[in-house]
Amino acid sequence: MSQLEAPEGTRRDFIYYATAGAAAVVTGAAVWPLVNQMNPSADVTALASIRVDVAGVTPGTQLTVLWQGKPVFIRARTEEEIAAAREVPVEELVDSSANNANLAEDAPATDENRALTAFEGAESPAGTWLVQMGVCTHLGCVPLGESGDFGGWFCPCHGSHYDTAGRVRRGPAPRNLPIPVATWVDAATIQLG
Ligand code: FES
Repeated sequence: MSQLEAPEGTRRDFIYYATAGAAAVVTGAAVWPLVNQMNPSADVTALASIRVDVAGVTPGTQLTVLWQGKPVFIRARTEEEIAAAREVPVEELVDSSANNANLAEDAPATDENRALTAFEGAESPAGTWLVQMGVCTHLGCVPLGESGDFGGWFCPCHGSHYDTAGRVRRGPAPRNLPIPVATWVDAATIQLG
């Protein structure tokens, strides 16, 4: 495994290789081929779950990993980012559903329902970790981090703005960024799937 600083990524993004040959670098916005979502190749479907070392991810930085053929953003949020997300009433949201595979389908899109439950005994504040698919819910581009009108993610393809909890706030995207099944393996390792 290795981590490198992104040469052209957002300011504090990292590039992350989950396993040799299984993950690829993802930076900036790109049209994500829908064919990959519909017809995943055998080596992609084989990766039902991956483990990600997040020891080097400090508040205000994130990793982008490739899982099942799609980018996943794993961000350690700052206290300011958490506070900004938590002060937004759910009624004001475009999509009031948490869109979180770890919760019931009708779970509301509170920040608490979007953030990854903290590892037991973790020192970081509750709500620090946000794990979400890096695929715009409009037409599948990869949004840019630390961007947009709400300080979260911005999809430049057609101008969708997501807040610091990955919830769509403006633009044509209909849904919040999906949250995949994610659990802590230990204090420094997150399992996707
Ligand atoms: S694909 Fe993101 S706004 Fe259209």
